[in-house]
Amino acid sequence: HGTSTINEQGHLEIGGCDTVELKEQYGTPLYIMDEQLIRQRCRDYMDAFRATGMEFQVAYASKAFCTMAMCRIVEEEGLSLDVVSEGELHTALQAGFPSARIHFHGNNKTPDELEMALDAEIGCFVVDNFIEMQMLDAIAAEKGLKPGILLRVTPGVEAHTHEFISTGQEDSKFGFDIGNGTAEEAVKLAHKLAHVELLGLHSHIGSQIFEVDGFQVAAQRVADFARQLQQEIGVIFKVINLGGGFGIRYTEEDSPLDTAEYVHAIADAVKQQFAGLEGQLPQIWIEPGRSIVGDAGTTLYTIGTSKDIPNVRKYVAIDGGMTDNPRPALYDAVYEAVLANRADDEATELVSVAGKCCESGDMLIWDIELAEPIAGDLLAVSCTGAYNYSMASNYNRIRRPAVVLVHDGESDLIVERESFEDITRNDVVPARLRSSVS
Ligand code: LLP
Repeated sequence: HGTSTINEQGHLEIGGCDTVELKEQYGTPLYIMDEQLIRQRCRDYMDAFRATGMEFQVAYASKAFCTMAMCRIVEEEGLSLDVVSEGELHTALQAGFPSARIHFHGNNKTPDELEMALDAEIGCFVVDNFIEMQMLDAIAAEKGLKPGILLRVTPGVEAHTHEFISTGQEDSKFGFDIGNGTAEEAVKLAHKLAHVELLGLHSHIGSQIFEVDGFQVAAQRVADFARQLQQEIGVIFKVINLGGGFGIRYTEEDSPLDTAEYVHAIADAVKQQFAGLEGQLPQIWIEPGRSIVGDAGTTLYTIGTSKDIPNVRKYVAIDGGMTDNPRPALYDAVYEAVLANRADDEATELVSVAGKCCESGDMLIWDIELAEPIAGDLLAVSCTGAYNYSMASNYNRIRRPAVVLVHDGESDLIVERESFEDITRNDVVPARLRSSVS
């Protein structure tokens, strides 16, 4: 993946950095992010859109991996940023991300979150339901503001890796349904409210999608709906946002398309709906998360104990697990890995990689061939850049790992490893429970 190679000592090298040296410097578990690859993914989207000739925004969905350094990279590459909570918004603002390029998502934004985002004068709110719309209008009125909004609509398309399901209606906690008239009602309300500016429509159909057809159908339905309402009530939609979900290759079985293929399919579908209405062609926005950072991330672990059950299975345990990567336990996600300190050695032994948490479900990889791993070997698991650090937990009071950014043979720490102090930072012991020994 990316800029990784094997050097003369047989060590895995990422972004020109020897992973054995990274272990010595930073310890394990360690998230390693390849800066050049992140930037390349950003540029692939920007270049593909420029080639369509349409106006566009690419907003990085920060839920995939949100740190201040990541916000800086995304900002430098000219992308916008999608945030879903006050914590992600806070991170972006702390990083100096231009607020006009921040989009706020979520199906239950709290009054505090709306206020914080209004005060920051972010670029737009993706409004999810009527209660939120009324609340935003009221708070904006008090502050004398008129924020831009998109309405999240559910077009009745649910896409998974290789297929999509098309229904008239969708059973989802998100957004306004097009099929049953709710979306139309929402557009009419937004059009009427004095303290929000209706910029356009938003839809998101799923994640880790390999085909273009789901995006095409969603684009057609949303664009068709936009065009109809434009004719009916004269509302002009400047923006159609088609969300994220572009797939990546975790293993050889995965077959994502090139970025440009997704982008052109979406652009063409929207253009078709607006054929003959050139002046009204909306901008297209998208929100990729996984496909910007997923394959740029590698997690480095140290192998510890093992347990060989003759004729059954050999378990090999690493110094992390579901706390730094909950995806195998949550979604049966499959990952590939190599021994980073002996990357040239032939993989001859079938083992299963276990985490260190106190439950049987904490398995990182079932049945993988590795080069007879022993205690002290380093295991590098690839494609862990998305939804790993961002979904990490302190279960078993395990400290979250550090994150380093590698580029041109240099490494920069971008998230410190949690300390023991961090672990007990928010604990409070009531006076009556305090012992004389502290
Ligand atoms: N926009 C919206 C409104 C979303 O809900 C999401 C993801 C994205 C954009 C970005 O989707 P992406 O390009 O990353 O697929 N934790 C799960 C993935 C959850 C995705 C949630 N929404 C996982 O680890 O697979």
